[in-house]
Amino acid sequence: MRSQLYDRRFAIVTGKGGVGRTTVALALGLVAARYGLRTCIVQLGARDWAGKPFGRIEPSYLPVPLCTSAAGIPELPLYAANLTPSEALREYGQMKLRFRAIYNLVFENDVMRRLTRMIPGMNEMLMLGKAWHMEAMDKRNDGRPTWDLLIIDAPATGHGVSLLRLPQVISEAVPFGPMAEDARAMRTLLEDPMRTALHVVTLPQELPATEALELCQQVRSTLGMPTGYLFINKVLGRVISETQRRTLKQVRDKTDGLAHSALEAMELYEHWRAAEQLQIQRLVRQSALPVVELPHLLEPVGRGQLEQLADLAQAGMEAADLRVQGRGMPSVGAA
Ligand SMILES: Nc1ncnc2c1ncn2[C@@H]1O[C@H](COP(=O)(O)OP(=O)(O)OP(=O)(O)O)[C@@H](O)[C@H]1O
Ligand SMILES: [Mg+2]
Repeated sequence: MRSQLYDRRFAIVTGKGGVGRTTVALALGLVAARYGLRTCIVQLGARDWAGKPFGRIEPSYLPVPLCTSAAGIPELPLYAANLTPSEALREYGQMKLRFRAIYNLVFENDVMRRLTRMIPGMNEMLMLGKAWHMEAMDKRNDGRPTWDLLIIDAPATGHGVSLLRLPQVISEAVPFGPMAEDARAMRTLLEDPMRTALHVVTLPQELPATEALELCQQVRSTLGMPTGYLFINKVLGRVISETQRRTLKQVRDKTDGLAHSALEAMELYEHWRAAEQLQIQRLVRQSALPVVELPHLLEPVGRGQLEQLADLAQAGMEAADLRVQGRGMPSVGAA
């Protein structure tokens, strides 16, 4: 079964800093690319370049293929691009002004550079505008959209929400003119449940969980955006069964030395795991989003680990879709 994630072409992934937004975006990208969907991970001025786990060292503004054979031939239609405000401005300027000489005159000067840096939100608007352009305007030769799926690796929560609110703020502050038109088109995309879904990533710990629940609320009330899945990343796996745990407790006090310490460490692990499970239950109860759990992997996240996370994300999304259907909850994207 193909998860509902892939029916909306503009998938935004956000959450608190460091929770695994880029990792989750890449895992989802892999799932989509395996279905043959032409997918691009679009980073908005990110510092952790998505191409790195695939051996792509240099960040690129133009989409680059991530899964290529030794001969450089793409094996999966998965691409990544890291947008920067300066390159987005250059592209936007040349598109609007058509001639490079005029563009240079208008944009390539100190006053303009200072202005774009000084106007709050201008840089973010340029990057969001480029992402919107990739969804709405980029076409193949046969007229079909270039991208079947764009996965936006958005900035961390606070910054991310302000960025996603910009089209709303600008279209209300500047009702007329080309900038207002662009802002309105972006707002239409962001609020369209047929094209857009905002996915939240969090960790199974109290503070990140609280922040994620607040974010879910903000997405609905302040942003008015359609929501997708809630990914709980780095969940500790079960290492021993309940019976084994009880036995361990009984034998712990009868042992000493290294065996005693090992048993204590195991108990501590189980204690953490129990605390995590409480946070997971809280997120399931209070978020009203279909929840997908992803395990805490032991090895650093490279291509192999991403493939593993992709398998688990796919299974988790399918299970979450079934739970939603079973409970008669609104389907993903229609929240
Ligand atoms: N499920 C996982 N298991 C183990 N390590 C993980 C997992 N998910 C992410 N990581 C690691 O955790 C770190 C943070 O992940 P990632 O860079 O994806 O987070 P981020 O939210 O994009 O961070 P930033 O706010 O810096 O952009 C990385 O080193 C990544 O390899
Ligand atoms: Mg990141």
